[in-house]
Amino acid sequence: MEFIVAKNYEEMSRKAADVIAELVARKPSCILGLATGSTPEGLYAQLVKDCQEGKISFKDVSTYNLDEYRGLENDHPQSYHYFMEQHLFNHVNIDLAATHVPDGSNPDAAAACADYEAAIKASGGVDLQLLGLGHNGHIGFNEPADTFAKETNCVELTRSTIEANSRLFDHIDEVPTQAYTMGIGTIMRAAKILVVANGQGKAQIVRDAFFGPVTPQVPASILQFHPDVTVIVDEAAASLCQG
Ligand code: F6R
Repeated sequence: MEFIVAKNYEEMSRKAADVIAELVARKPSCILGLATGSTPEGLYAQLVKDCQEGKISFKDVSTYNLDEYRGLENDHPQSYHYFMEQHLFNHVNIDLAATHVPDGSNPDAAAACADYEAAIKASGGVDLQLLGLGHNGHIGFNEPADTFAKETNCVELTRSTIEANSRLFDHIDEVPTQAYTMGIGTIMRAAKILVVANGQGKAQIVRDAFFGPVTPQVPASILQFHPDVTVIVDEAAASLCQG
């Protein structure tokens, strides 16, 4: 595991964007696994800038996002489809037909998840999976559990995740209680993993996930067993890992 401490959020975002930009330059038809949330907003802004300045092209890139709320239409402002359009897809030269997010509008959870997992497999597999880190160690929407989920599945969100995500909704009752998410197995099959985390609020979970015991109670801890992981955090998020 490569553990990189950046000075601040901006430097974390630039360094993470560089990892992605290098892959896209080396393999223009690469498959990126993408994440939503506050953490990657800065790195998406950097990628948009790079693309608009002609330094990087998404023309042949395909993407698979980690997760989506169950029950939200794709154009719902809090859906992850919408997030990706706003922060990346609408501002770069990507073929929208090559972008994929689990279909939260499909009420048939089993079919939605099986179709998504099959599509990832048929694509040949994710070259680089970008991950943020939940305060409870979740990756995608894989919440602390007794086992690691193998494939894309429908999960019940924990109260702490619903509360954390309610900041983006008008009222906590509007936050969906279920989501479709890549499984831990799906994530672990990516050739490379890139994790970003920032802020003091993530310091404890950064320490637990990357320097504590590997356990499904801290889902991100399984990443310690992945052969190619780069973790990029700012100084605040690294503050409990030093000394
Ligand atoms: C988002 C996702 C989540 C977030 C995590 C951190 O697609 O899968 O696991 O990465 O909840 O969210 P932020 O970045 O908002 O702190």
